[in-house]
Amino acid sequence: MPSKRPAPGDLEAIETASRDELVALQLERLRRMLERAYDNVPHYRASFDAAGVHPLDLRSLNDLAKFPFTTKKDLRDHYPFGLFAVPREQVARIHASSGTTGRPTVVGYTARDIDTWATVMARSIRAAGGRAGDIVHVAYGYGLFTGGLGAHYGAEKLGCTVIPMSGGMTERQVQLIVDFKPSIIMVTPSYMLAIAEEMEKQGIDPKKTSLKIGIFGAEPWTPAMRRAIESRLDMDAIDIYGLSEIIGPGVAQECIETKDGLTVWEDHFYPEIIDPETGAVLPDGEKGELVFTTLTKEALPMIRYRTRDLTRLLPPTARSMRRIEKITGRSDDMLIIRGVNVFPTQVEDLILKQPELTPHYLLEVTRPEHLDEMTVHVEMGPELAHGSQDARATAARQLEHNIKGYIGVSTTVRLALPGGIERSLGKAKRVLDKRPKA
Ligand code: DLL
Repeated sequence: MPSKRPAPGDLEAIETASRDELVALQLERLRRMLERAYDNVPHYRASFDAAGVHPLDLRSLNDLAKFPFTTKKDLRDHYPFGLFAVPREQVARIHASSGTTGRPTVVGYTARDIDTWATVMARSIRAAGGRAGDIVHVAYGYGLFTGGLGAHYGAEKLGCTVIPMSGGMTERQVQLIVDFKPSIIMVTPSYMLAIAEEMEKQGIDPKKTSLKIGIFGAEPWTPAMRRAIESRLDMDAIDIYGLSEIIGPGVAQECIETKDGLTVWEDHFYPEIIDPETGAVLPDGEKGELVFTTLTKEALPMIRYRTRDLTRLLPPTARSMRRIEKITGRSDDMLIIRGVNVFPTQVEDLILKQPELTPHYLLEVTRPEHLDEMTVHVEMGPELAHGSQDARATAARQLEHNIKGYIGVSTTVRLALPGGIERSLGKAKRVLDKRPKA
């Protein structure tokens, strides 16, 4: 008998549904989600009541704007399980993100949530070009971080052969890629570069491995970084986005056929863009802070969660769902140097304009005489490292000049020797802020 399930590789019906069908589904799910939150989570009941709104006030999707936001602080204030909407016994799994300060953010999943997550991850891997039967090397960290297990369950669900490598042991990563011949790798873009380097160190041409597709996310990376990875490894580098609070990876995914931003899996996660200052909802196309409401999550419903990620909503292309523009920064990553706003990715873009430099960099910020100073530490490529003092000075001055010209801030560029900047095994650390805390 022919299977009723779509053959892996085929799209789910909702991926090509009409806009009207999608909106009807969203509205129905959103109503239920608001009720679920109101009925089961004291925090939501109190915050809706305080704002004078009730789930029944939602008549159209636009009415969502009347409901209060949820922030990371709300999660911290109800640490660890206070925002769960199901009895703890029904929580099948916990993940957590460490954050830089204070308590970790704890999230929970019912068995059904894990299945939903695997479904959107399988969809994501397929959108990136993966198919049943592919060998998938997962080098996102396993553990409390959502990257490893999220990728793992999705790849299994799609029908792939999964290699649960996790992050670290870079020599071993290379050996297993050579021996097992995966066609897909899932890893942070910064760690992909470290793996590529290790290949070169072992005398293996990164262009000649079995890898065809990289599914990269968990940190901001620029279009210039995409070009650098694609040419160095002769692969398609595809963007994946997500956050623990909403589910983990698999909230939005770039489609390989268009590579034009990330399709938001809008049947499970409802996106809004707001003005980060006023909280007002902005029309599609305008840049602001991305806000998500989960439409199907059981254990941890998130109503209007403020992600701090900056982007805009774009019309659908490869799928029925809207897209987000590639996220090049979070409001928390933005440095203000003598009044000028600087995102690390802006500096990355300029570094990659100089082929003699490498995308291994660190921005160090200090305040020696009550004035902010930024030093850009960037690694030289091998040629420049063996080149003359003059060539080095020219490269450094060129970068300083471009940063001043394009971003508007004066910096000092310090060139590091190859390997001189610490490699990350997961999310890259791009900023070392040594300014006294206010
Ligand atoms: O990083 C989930 C994930 C794992 C996504 C693997 C993709 C791949 P968190 O640790 O909670 O979850 O961090 C979420 O990372 O709010 C963004 O600021 C950033 N981020 C994630 N993906 C991207 C991306 C995972 N593709 C935070 N581009 C988010 C830019 C990203 N930033």
